[in-house]
Amino acid sequence: MLEINHLNAKVKDKEIEILKDFSLKINSSEIHAIMGPNGTGKSTLAKVLMGHYGYEVTGGDILFDNDNIVSLEVNERAKKGIFLCMQDPTVIEGVSNSEFLRTAKGEITGEKVNLYSFIKDMDSAMKSVSLDSNMLHRSLNQGFSGGEKKKNEVLQLKVLKPKFIILDELDSGLDVDSLRIVCENINEYIKENPETSILIITHYPRILEYIKPDYVHVMVDGKIQKTGNIDLAFTVEKDGYLGIGSGVNV
Ligand SMILES: Nc1ncnc2c1ncn2[C@@H]1O[C@H](COP(=O)(O)OP(=O)(O)O)[C@@H](O)[C@H]1O
Ligand SMILES: [Mg+2]
Repeated sequence: MLEINHLNAKVKDKEIEILKDFSLKINSSEIHAIMGPNGTGKSTLAKVLMGHYGYEVTGGDILFDNDNIVSLEVNERAKKGIFLCMQDPTVIEGVSNSEFLRTAKGEITGEKVNLYSFIKDMDSAMKSVSLDSNMLHRSLNQGFSGGEKKKNEVLQLKVLKPKFIILDELDSGLDVDSLRIVCENINEYIKENPETSILIITHYPRILEYIKPDYVHVMVDGKIQKTGNIDLAFTVEKDGYLGIGSGVNV
């Protein structure tokens, strides 16, 4: 589904190279996790995959369903079925959560979404991620707690039905019960849509005990340095990145 080949990317208008010859292949139905020290380029990878305007690809390519998507805009990538659950979701004052979701849904499906049925559908979706339904009528992410922002990202995912999901530190800011609830929602989504692939960026194995990865990668200095299974995540937690050996210099 996704093939990243020798990707180099930097911050736009600056000479800060962040992704350095990064390669990764994710097949349909696979779950991959990426761990790595702070500042190693994990969120940059997530944003570059989504087409964030603040970054520039300087080499390599990103194939999604065999199409090179490097030159596509964010909305075009979203239409192809790529979804980023952001580490720090953006606050958009004056745009209500319901307007935002309904517009996004309409854009992605290409069909007009009926307001009444949408609000009704939302009610049960909001309950399932344990968000109060009045949050639908508040400005997007404004005044939301860290946990509420993350739950709201998972709500978006349930509504937009992507086939490739990037979870950038979904677990940060979520209490233990909330983490379990959002992970249950994602697992239910995978069950209903078994072709879905997921890239989980995390510092902790706990989320990987809920959403079980096929592969765990350690990313250091803009590229993958080591790949294993979930045991690698536990080793990282126990020994740190310095402890896992070859090629890793932090
Ligand atoms: N827009 C930007 N301007 C300047 N530096 C940036 C920008 N985006 C990312 N960086 C730098 O690139 C590095 C990687 O950042 P990031 O991808 O957020 O790391 P991670 O998610 O792995 O913690 C960091 O050193 C960060 O400060
Ligand atoms: Mg990050």
